Amino acid sequence: MAHQDALIAQDIEAYLRAQEQKSMLRFITCGSVDDGKSTLIGRLLFEAKLIYEDQLAALQADSKRVGTQGGDIDFALLVDGLAAEREQGITIDVAYRFFSTEKRKFIVADTPGHEQYTRNMATGASTADLAVVMIDARKGVLTQTRRHSLIVSMLGVRHVVLCVNKMDLVDYDPAVFHRIQNKYLSFAASLGFKDIAAVPVSALRGDNITERSEATPWHDGPVLMPYLETLSVDEEEQAAPFRMAVQLVNRPNLDFRGFAGRIGSGSIAPGAKVKALPSGKESTIDRIVTFEGDLEDAVAGQSVTLTLADEIDISRGDVICEAGAPVETSDQFKTTLLWMSEQEMLPGRSYAFKLGTATGLAQLAEPKYKINVNTGEHMAAATLNLNEIGVCNVALDREIAFEPYAQNRELGGFILIDRLTNETVGLGLIDFALRRATNIHRQALDIDKSDRAQLKGHKPLVLWFTGLSGSGKSTIANIVEKRLHKLGKHTYTLDGDNVRHGLNRDLGFTDADRVENIRRVGEVAKLMADAGLIVLVSFISPFRAEREMARSMVGDGEFWEVHVDTPLKVAEARDVKGLYAKARSGELKNFTGIDSPYEEPDSPEIRVNTVETSAEEAAEQILVKLRELGVLSG
Ligand code: ADX
Repeated sequence: MAHQDALIAQDIEAYLRAQEQKSMLRFITCGSVDDGKSTLIGRLLFEAKLIYEDQLAALQADSKRVGTQGGDIDFALLVDGLAAEREQGITIDVAYRFFSTEKRKFIVADTPGHEQYTRNMATGASTADLAVVMIDARKGVLTQTRRHSLIVSMLGVRHVVLCVNKMDLVDYDPAVFHRIQNKYLSFAASLGFKDIAAVPVSALRGDNITERSEATPWHDGPVLMPYLETLSVDEEEQAAPFRMAVQLVNRPNLDFRGFAGRIGSGSIAPGAKVKALPSGKESTIDRIVTFEGDLEDAVAGQSVTLTLADEIDISRGDVICEAGAPVETSDQFKTTLLWMSEQEMLPGRSYAFKLGTATGLAQLAEPKYKINVNTGEHMAAATLNLNEIGVCNVALDREIAFEPYAQNRELGGFILIDRLTNETVGLGLIDFALRRATNIHRQALDIDKSDRAQLKGHKPLVLWFTGLSGSGKSTIANIVEKRLHKLGKHTYTLDGDNVRHGLNRDLGFTDADRVENIRRVGEVAKLMADAGLIVLVSFISPFRAEREMARSMVGDGEFWEVHVDTPLKVAEARDVKGLYAKARSGELKNFTGIDSPYEEPDSPEIRVNTVETSAEEAAEQILVKLRELGVLSG
């Protein structure tokens, strides 16, 4: 090891204790390799004496081989990680680096600066207290400087250090530095930063990194490292009212019931009055339990288990707050969304969400607008694509405790997850709650579904036919309905072609429109089943996610998926409506099976194959099953 903290060798316990007591600063570096970003981080790590000797040797060898500094140490190589990246000279992913000085611990998120890495930068910024914005003194404020600043400001970073780098290449000219500083300050005035410190540096030569440089006697502002070491950031968290999102309800035996979590803000002590949300129930803190014994108080950042004086119902995802300053609750929000998936956002689709420790399902409305990340301009949008940022209403399937993101990142930021692939597809920031939902209460009605079904003499059911166009869905559904009608059963058929003439007249065949098509039909089918009917739904319904959503809307056992499994070749050969021919010739776009996907059901309740089975036989199979399962009796 080159020069580690001497304490490590002498007294490891003392070293660890000292580390623990140091405060932490999380920051993100914005800029590109050309601006000297990696060189700066490498320099910081080097100055913090955290480079190990073997790394140093490798670095020297690498610098000779691929470095850009003519054989001198190229600090950028320390950071640029992977070999492939080194050879290309760009940094690809979010890399988090840890280092510490005598005064403070640091975590740096080092993300690439190109627009196609907006999601990486946003991810890094979402946990950062401060952003180091790098500018090449020769180039000044660029489009990318504006983009990076906009992104970090949106993600709640409130402190900025403007590093005007490569001052050595402009002869340490104060006029250059001041021009850039003024231009940046006037541009950033609207971004809501609390403070912006400007430092003229040469990351390569080490000017104004740890010590004031003799080359810039005119500079009376801060020097980078001492500034990073002393800027106060966590007091804000500690001064805010007490909030803890419950991670786990700990109930080892009947006498103990504790709520475990990390204190997000504020402080707490036994005797303090608290309120749990969304339930709104109040109690008093009894004990603060930890592995090392009970505490007399605890502050933001600590992980603890709280016990309360009263038995109140609290579950994972709830938030325990100071009783006099509770957080808000709602299930509908105006949000700013950053889309992170290659698959475009589909308004109307249900995505899983995670906010703090709360989870559930979220449905997104069509964006109100998207934001040009380079200029801040608003633009019309029907959806969001990878790396796009937009403003969009979001409805959750439950009420949650939250705070606007600008006040509380932990309780105001959420992620969206694709339910089938588990991919994180979006990052959301709550702007504010929409009050609509809270003003509409469900009306209790005395007659329910089972009362209605009893009168009809059969159980309610949704028979959901899915399959390619021309597979035979409507033909089979029609026969089943005729047979049921003859038996005196109450039925209704929702057919794609028909519903698209009325309720869904405004929808076409893009993915987003199909999602909305099925969402609406799912809601209608649900109401009809609630009215006690046997509902036959005949829609291509090409996406698994929406069929699953329709299933989850009706009662258990009341949704049967019928896959009319006709191969594309056969459906195309039939081509009853002549649409396949048009699709093949390019006259019709987005045609299912041709240039729009069809996702087959994994385990439908019934599968019929219209190649080996006639429509009558298929209908008969379905009726047999309905009888077997007792649907046709009350
Ligand atoms: S879905 O995909 O949104 O569920 P839906 O069942 O409502 O589709 O409508 C499908 C019917 O619309 C087809 O049977 C066909 O007659 C007609 N149609 C017109 N254009 C298309 C298209 N591009 N893709 C599929 N079907 C189309």
